[in-house]
Amino acid sequence: MRYKKHKYFVAGRINLIQRSKIRELFERASKMQNVISLGIGEPDFETPQNIKEAAKRALDEGWTHYTPNAGIPELREAVSDYYKNHYGLDVPAERVIVTAGAYEATYLAFETLLEDGDEVIIPDPAFVCYVEDAKVAEAKPVRLPLKEENGFQPDPDELLELITKRTRMIVINYPNNPTGAVLDEEVARAIADIAQDYNIYILSDEPYEHFLYDGAKHIPMIRYAPDNTILANSFSKTFAMTGWRLGFAIAPEEIIRDMIKLHAYIIGNVASFVQVAGVAALREEASWKAVEEMRREYAERRKFVLEHLKEMPYITAFEPKGAFYIFANIKDTGMKSEEFAEWLLERAKVVVIPGTAFGPNGEGYIRISYATSKEKLLEAMERMKKALEEL
Ligand SMILES: Cc1ncc(COP(=O)(O)O)c(C=O)c1O
Repeated sequence: MRYKKHKYFVAGRINLIQRSKIRELFERASKMQNVISLGIGEPDFETPQNIKEAAKRALDEGWTHYTPNAGIPELREAVSDYYKNHYGLDVPAERVIVTAGAYEATYLAFETLLEDGDEVIIPDPAFVCYVEDAKVAEAKPVRLPLKEENGFQPDPDELLELITKRTRMIVINYPNNPTGAVLDEEVARAIADIAQDYNIYILSDEPYEHFLYDGAKHIPMIRYAPDNTILANSFSKTFAMTGWRLGFAIAPEEIIRDMIKLHAYIIGNVASFVQVAGVAALREEASWKAVEEMRREYAERRKFVLEHLKEMPYITAFEPKGAFYIFANIKDTGMKSEEFAEWLLERAKVVVIPGTAFGPNGEGYIRISYATSKEKLLEAMERMKKALEEL
């Protein structure tokens, strides 16, 4: 239904979309001096040089035209080889579509597979875009609470209880934003079995797959449920390429063909020279060396922040095995998540994200990102400790 905003009439569906609470907090912080942000959801590293060089070369070689909608064959093949080499999985190139980041891959999955009245099970807390994508697709989000005592993993029995005749899809995102949790193999298998038994799609959003610590392993969902899974992945986090807008989806060929139909009219194709740089990212050793260096740096920062948090009163941290976030429990402060985030910004000039930005079940938690320099992390930890000790 149309509605009037200022002097313009706009489509009702736009009114359904909620602006991210993360952005509101950032806007307030940007008006203040001397603020340290631990709210960041992107790598602070530069894109590895070999990838930049590949993009520059591609421009000079004339990669400035449209490409096939699904992406250049060289990149679809490189994705296919990547899954073979890293995970021993067969992913034919026809099962790959190159997208403008994992955001577009996710959006395409929702729009292609869901319609009015379909139900989609979305964990709570979860990354912000899934609920909004569901609303735009006119599907009904059904939240599956994730609990700290279960390591923020879905409980397969609770999942089963939420399934109705209208359930079409379940969203899974591991390594997880905002909790940093990694999915246990038994849970992955259980979810795959449920999806197959009830004929449900799994949207598995896996952009943090390379940021793993303490020996944790990542299992791509296509290993267990290849015919039910739409896997969204991205170059954004792995290769510190957030601004390049490069990602992909993997799904059964028929679904990919339908996703291409929509993608063809909204994106057309991802920038051609960016796709060529994507081939270099996946195929060249230099980029994988850079990924390992970033992972090591994140691992050190993670340890550093966890150690500092242990010394603070009223706050306890769930020990994450992946991504670059720490989901910390602040219930002992007596404050609600949003109140805490505002208090910390005013009192210590440190930005953290209230857990409720990711769903009602994030109440009592804050998300701390360690995708920032050690110096800034140290300063932020000192400020937080002082503020909490004075509470
Ligand atoms: C879980 C998750 N999925 C998807 C995205 C979007 O990533 P991209 O830059 O690939 O669109 C993000 C970005 O923060 C994310 O955290």
